[in-house]
Amino acid sequence: MSDKRTIQTSRSVEAAHTAEDTPIEGSLRPKRLSEYIGQEKIRESLRIYIAAAKGREENLDHLLFYGPPGLGKTTLAQILANEMGVHIRITSGPAVEKPGEMAAILNNLHAGDILFIDEIHRLNRQVEEVLYPAMEDYAIDIMIGKGPSARSIRLELPRFTLIGATTRAGMLSAPLRDRFGIIHRMEYYTPEELKTIIVQSAKVLQVPVEEKGAYEMAKRSRGTPRLANRILKRVRDYAQVRYDGNITEQIAKEALDLMDVDAKGLDHTDQNILLTMIHKFEGGPVGLDTLAAATGEDAGTIEDVYEPYLLKEGFIMRTPRGRVVTETGYAHLGILKVTD
Ligand SMILES: Nc1ncnc2c1ncn2[C@@H]1O[C@H](COP(=O)(O)OP(=O)(O)O)[C@@H](O)[C@H]1O
Ligand SMILES: [Mg+2]
Repeated sequence: MSDKRTIQTSRSVEAAHTAEDTPIEGSLRPKRLSEYIGQEKIRESLRIYIAAAKGREENLDHLLFYGPPGLGKTTLAQILANEMGVHIRITSGPAVEKPGEMAAILNNLHAGDILFIDEIHRLNRQVEEVLYPAMEDYAIDIMIGKGPSARSIRLELPRFTLIGATTRAGMLSAPLRDRFGIIHRMEYYTPEELKTIIVQSAKVLQVPVEEKGAYEMAKRSRGTPRLANRILKRVRDYAQVRYDGNITEQIAKEALDLMDVDAKGLDHTDQNILLTMIHKFEGGPVGLDTLAAATGEDAGTIEDVYEPYLLKEGFIMRTPRGRVVTETGYAHLGILKVTD
């Protein structure tokens, strides 16, 4: 029992990047487009954009990737830099607080460089405004002096590519969104794709894993490569401590049960959301803020991280009056839906 607690202390299906991922993500991150599994549509169009830009000896058009955490947005940005043979400068929305800081970042770019802004929806308005002329005309307007004598001068920038990533396309302002030439939504991965990723990662980490063991982990990874890699690492530890290290289907099942990740990849928090909707709100409809208050989770996190997967699996539905647990959702939890 005490054993079980230690494994539960941190949430194993937290899709956001955690400190635990840092040592492995570097080595597991695919470097080329050909090593990037899944996301067929995106890969196909990127291949064309890359070839076209290279053919014209131009930089890539500005790109926006959006979708839940852990689906490969940062990885794609780095792959694009590798494929184009250019430098990538990485920053994030909350990290750039002042317009002057953004101006400095832009001013230090070289022709062709990629500027990657993670969580781009969190840029504040003034900082965002520096990006408009930068994206459109490759220029920034800088204010010189203060008060009535202040004037603005225009500074030319090299032609660069901005890649934005966000979990919330809806929170991006229209002027910013409109300045991206290419906008791509990231899709959840199929269990087959995740299995391929797990097998690939297992090779890098030199973990012996059986086909069926890999598939079991894939099914419980919430369609998310970052989770697949994390689950592989946890199951590896389990297989090593309790068995001989080889990951079989049975061992994967045992380890995941111990981690409280169910057959569909749902953990305590997902289940708590569904159970709260069922027990406190008769299955809904319930509004996001009410649900957040009742579960003690952050509304934004529910919307960005939990809900998209529950929707995708068909466990909940969004209606104009709020979220509703579906028949499938009830069935998954083994709860009978009471109708009058
Ligand atoms: N298509 C993919 N193929 C193989 N591994 C992937 C893929 N997408 C993501 N990964 C793995 O998942 C991890 C998390 O991806 P990341 O790009 O950081 O996600 P995001 O930026 O969308 O949160 C990466 O370090 C990489 O190991
Ligand atoms: Mg990222």
